[in-house]
Amino acid sequence: MSTSLTQSAIWQELGHHQAEVKAIPLRDLVMNDPRRLEDFQLSLEGLRFNFALNRIVPKTIDLLTQLAAQQKLEFARERMFCGEVINISEGRAALHTALRQKKDRPIKVDGRDIIPDILIARLRLTRFVDEVRNGYWKGASGEAIRHIVNIGIGGSDLGPRLATRALSPFISKLNVHFVANADAFELTNILANIDPAHTLFVVVSKTFTTQETLLNAHMARQWLVNKLGPQAVAQHFVAVSANQAEVEKFGIDVANVFPIWDWVGGRYSLWSAVGLSLALAIGMENFEKMLDGAEAMDEHFCTAPLAKNMPVVMGLLGVWYRNFWATKAQVILPYAERLRDLPRYLQQLEMESNGKTTTQTNQRVDYATAPIIFGECGTVGQHSFHQLLHQGSDVIPADFIGICEDNLNKPQHHQAMLANMVAQAGALAFGRDNATDLHNACAGNRPSNLILLDRLDPFCFGMLLALYEHKVFVEGVVWNINSFDQPGVELGKELARGLEAKEAANTSEKVFLTRLFKTVQTPNIN
Ligand code: F6P
Repeated sequence: MSTSLTQSAIWQELGHHQAEVKAIPLRDLVMNDPRRLEDFQLSLEGLRFNFALNRIVPKTIDLLTQLAAQQKLEFARERMFCGEVINISEGRAALHTALRQKKDRPIKVDGRDIIPDILIARLRLTRFVDEVRNGYWKGASGEAIRHIVNIGIGGSDLGPRLATRALSPFISKLNVHFVANADAFELTNILANIDPAHTLFVVVSKTFTTQETLLNAHMARQWLVNKLGPQAVAQHFVAVSANQAEVEKFGIDVANVFPIWDWVGGRYSLWSAVGLSLALAIGMENFEKMLDGAEAMDEHFCTAPLAKNMPVVMGLLGVWYRNFWATKAQVILPYAERLRDLPRYLQQLEMESNGKTTTQTNQRVDYATAPIIFGECGTVGQHSFHQLLHQGSDVIPADFIGICEDNLNKPQHHQAMLANMVAQAGALAFGRDNATDLHNACAGNRPSNLILLDRLDPFCFGMLLALYEHKVFVEGVVWNINSFDQPGVELGKELARGLEAKEAANTSEKVFLTRLFKTVQTPNIN
């Protein structure tokens, strides 16, 4: 019987080490080491990862990399990049990295090299994006397209939505709108403000069975048919899916289906045709620069020594706080309004990937796994929940993300953003002594990472997302869980289907839920 993770020598040693480090105030760790700012920083092209404001000493990183070695991180990384079936429960590879691979290296799935499929799909994407952006793709009334409406949810929405806002300075020619929720509010508002003749609907769904997406897609199609007639669907609807049969059933022309594959998880799929709406907005040249940025991070992740490897250090710090400091949450604080949707995107990436309690061998874990991820862009969050970050009963490690370039040439605003970001990190770390006035004292000792992008452009943005993808992977490997399935989301979907179909309630729980469902549908008028 192999030693359990928590019984392993390195895990035990990390526990003792935490007690050692806890005895040293973060202020002392920083002030007593004049080289700390330089020694605890890793750089790659236009991205810097500074981890000086963490409750660590050099020995901490050594021990954490030993833990990673024990958990065979490098072997697991190689298996992912090579297309091994690492998503064991679904019998699939996890090959989002193949979508942006530049080197000429075949990757086989079921004995077949899938790189040609990726390149052909990207060629089709390029041709279509150019046709639409340059007005060659005509709507049913012969008009060029001006509005894109992306209909999708989860990984079919959060990545494209985040990227489109983050890269908004690179948008031209087209307006992009996003619809995700089953609530008709979003789509109703969009349809009220667009002209059908100039609108293209992009229905994104890997399974093409997701209730919210089909609800919205049917509503959009009915709207279009009412305006332009049934023959118009062919020129105003395209689909991105792995399920061609369901797409055809919906009534979208097979020629208008852009393929995605089972070996790419939804939350890891922005790099595929799931990014079609983004590519339409910023053009393929910029889309490919985003792929290049992600690929640069892939190369770094695959080649840098563990202790000098950004995703590895970031993931191991996540384990350090979650498992040895018993932190419950992690807060994402992008100091850029254009990255406002990053916390929402990372909620899915991190919590749908690692919010699990069974191992790859179906054993119950005896240690904590993914923390609660939340966040808000700075400086808005400072006026919302930063009080708790500074004086709350929980220590919540923070990721600050800053942009060096002042692309709007508003130096006062830009300096304010960067000054507030650094000040918040400093206040969390060093606090404010006030023994006589506890009420206003800030304990400090609250750790944070600082991720700095030279510019918020496609390349740096691609590096940033790939950094987090691999950070999540590192944590999943240490925790020995499957980061690429999501069995926990199925139960809720099944119960909702039963309630809506008014299925016979055959358990006491379902009887209760049926009663509750009736109650929520009945206005509370006296
Ligand atoms: O939330 C469950 C989930 O399957 C996500 O993993 C996925 O991104 C989302 O639903 C949408 O799935 P689809 O792209 O198949 O509509």
